[in-house]
Amino acid sequence: MIKVTLSILMVATLAGQDFIGNKKCKSCHKKKSSGAQYLKWEETNHANAFDVLKTPEAKTVAEERGILTNPWETPECVRCHTTGFEKGGYEIKDQAFWDQVTERGKPTKEVKRMLALQNVGCEVCHGPGSDYKSKKKMKAIFHGDITMESVGMLKPSKETCVQCHNEESPSFHGFDFEEFFPKISHPYPDGYREEMKQKELNK
Ligand code: HEC
Ligand code: HEC
Ligand code: HEC
Ligand code: HEC
Repeated sequence: MIKVTLSILMVATLAGQDFIGNKKCKSCHKKKSSGAQYLKWEETNHANAFDVLKTPEAKTVAEERGILTNPWETPECVRCHTTGFEKGGYEIKDQAFWDQVTERGKPTKEVKRMLALQNVGCEVCHGPGSDYKSKKKMKAIFHGDITMESVGMLKPSKETCVQCHNEESPSFHGFDFEEFFPKISHPYPDGYREEMKQKELNK
């Protein structure tokens, strides 16, 4: 009986960990006072990784590999240029999908989510956000009250990067974590962690 309940719980947890898209992280992670991670990410090429597939250069890269379909609609290219491809995140969709609008003529929720999963977004490195995105859980992780793993957050490392920065990339010129990470890093301001911990204690 206990076993059955446990496995149902585990399935429920896994099913709850969906990719929600970068725009959801933006709402809380754009403030300068806490490091403006979203704005820093926006300045990197990770934020442009999908659009680069629409350039003439991408077309050439694809053709050299015998790929004649649009690179941005080809799994072999999309998998490293989007978030969560074939893991429950980004999916290649037809025009009818992208054309869906609400009664007011705005893109539907599903279209907006998919757009926010184009590019190499936050969840590529930090894990699908649906189960950790609430302020309560985010703070609990931050203060060490729960583990990040318990809500699907991953601890990014060099291994995360080399899932894409490897020889299967047609434009690979090598990857050195020590050299590359500073170019995309988005740390808290100096002393931020200590300051927030002190605030929590004074509550
Ligand atoms: C294994 C992951 C991976 C796959 C598959 C992949 N890319 Fe990339 N792509 C990258 C990475 C990582 C970079 C950044 C450059 C590098 O390799 O360091 C990149 C960069 C690019 C660039 C920018 C040019 C440059 O030199 O930086 C273009 C254009 C591009 N890819 C097109 C494609 C096309 C077209 C396909 C499909 C045929 C494809 N990529 C498949 C990972 C991948
Ligand atoms: C409702 C607001 C909110 C949303 C939405 C949100 N976060 Fe956070 N996040 C926080 C707060 C608050 C903290 C605690 C530290 C701080 O003040 O930044 C935090 C901390 C973090 C940390 C550091 C954890 C640690 O202690 O090492 C990461 C990584 C993170 N968030 C990633 C994300 C990602 C990725 C998303 C989107 C999928 C996201 N967050 C969405 C509010 C949010
Ligand atoms: C899902 C695949 C993926 C993962 C995982 C990934 N990258 Fe990238 N990265 C790319 C692609 C694709 C580009 C090229 C985008 C473009 O040229 O538009 C890129 C570009 C870069 C660049 C050049 C960016 C710039 O703005 O000049 C750096 C540096 C980089 N990645 C570092 C990292 C590091 C460090 C990690 C791990 C913490 C990482 N990447 C993880 C796909 C990935
Ligand atoms: C290419 C991988 C990658 C992407 C994309 C990425 N991050 Fe990170 N992030 C990292 C790494 C690596 C660290 C450092 C982890 C560590 O030190 O343990 C980090 C650290 C953080 C931290 C903690 C900062 C600190 O000083 O401890 C926050 C908050 C965060 N990221 C939020 C975000 C948000 C929000 C996004 C999207 C706008 C994002 N990240 C996109 C790889 C990434």
